[in-house]
Amino acid sequence: MSLAILKKSLHIALAVLLTFSYSTTAQQQTQTPSSAKTVIAHRGASAYAPENTLPAFRLAFDMGADFIEYDVQVTRDKQLVILHDQTLERTTNVEEVFPARGRIAAGDKSGKKHWYIYDFTLAEIRRLDAGSWFGVKYKDTPIPTFKETLDIARGRAGHLIELKVPDEYNARGVDMERLTLAELERYNRATPKSQTGSPIIIQSFNARSLQKIAAELKSPLPLHLLTSSDDKDGWLTREGLAKVKTFCVGISPHKDSLAKNSDIVTWAHELGLRVTPYTFTTKSQESQPLRTDISRFLYTLKADGVITDNPDVAVKARTE
Ligand code: G3P
Ligand code: CA
Repeated sequence: MSLAILKKSLHIALAVLLTFSYSTTAQQQTQTPSSAKTVIAHRGASAYAPENTLPAFRLAFDMGADFIEYDVQVTRDKQLVILHDQTLERTTNVEEVFPARGRIAAGDKSGKKHWYIYDFTLAEIRRLDAGSWFGVKYKDTPIPTFKETLDIARGRAGHLIELKVPDEYNARGVDMERLTLAELERYNRATPKSQTGSPIIIQSFNARSLQKIAAELKSPLPLHLLTSSDDKDGWLTREGLAKVKTFCVGISPHKDSLAKNSDIVTWAHELGLRVTPYTFTTKSQESQPLRTDISRFLYTLKADGVITDNPDVAVKARTE
């Protein structure tokens, strides 16, 4: 076994251990976060391949990422698929394939038509090309299903699964939290012990949704609260983090929040919360500035991992 593969296996093993130890004890208990630094590929290796597609996930594994981060949305026929936006036009050819299906949403003052994911069935969505916008070599890459994404990472990396706009789905009569857990149950992935080398963490910007997963749906899976750079709900205070601790094992804050106030990491660690900031990214060939930035967050600010479009750069930063 090469040194690189051995190192990667060790990191995944540590991530599995962490996930297990967090979730086999109550989420409320205080524990010391491990020193393992986790590389999380944001929407896959999305600096180099079309975001949230199987090629981007495969590339992330090859680059040594410990986890892939991706976004879950729900189709009209209640199937779970991987897509960041609620609309299809930025990353697919939906306007060509279904020209008549765009609409102006009620209350949308822009007057612009959008092609909303929840207006399309899975069969329709699978006809779309989600690769060409990024590069011709990815032509006809489909939007992946949740099941395909669970399968492709098995034994290769963990999953940081973001539930997108759960309130929007709930308002449409779609219980996306229950759907997601049912899908995990169907494939025997609903408990930390059933993860076979690919630990699962669920994250959301929506605290109510995470509380529902933990308290109402009684999922034992570890949860992370995402917070935006303005932290408008005040989660990133000592008091706020103590509340987060009642339903989460970690936080995924905007990196600017930690840059402005590094005490957040100390407070989170005192409570036993892991801290994985987002999003570290560069489009430049010159990766040294990003490497330096990632090193600062991991080793000076003491974050537990980074969510990055460039997992190869983060792996290098960690090696140094
Ligand atoms: O995981 C952090 C990040 O994914 C949250 O923002 O917009 O890229 O889903 P976004
Ligand atoms: Ca995301």
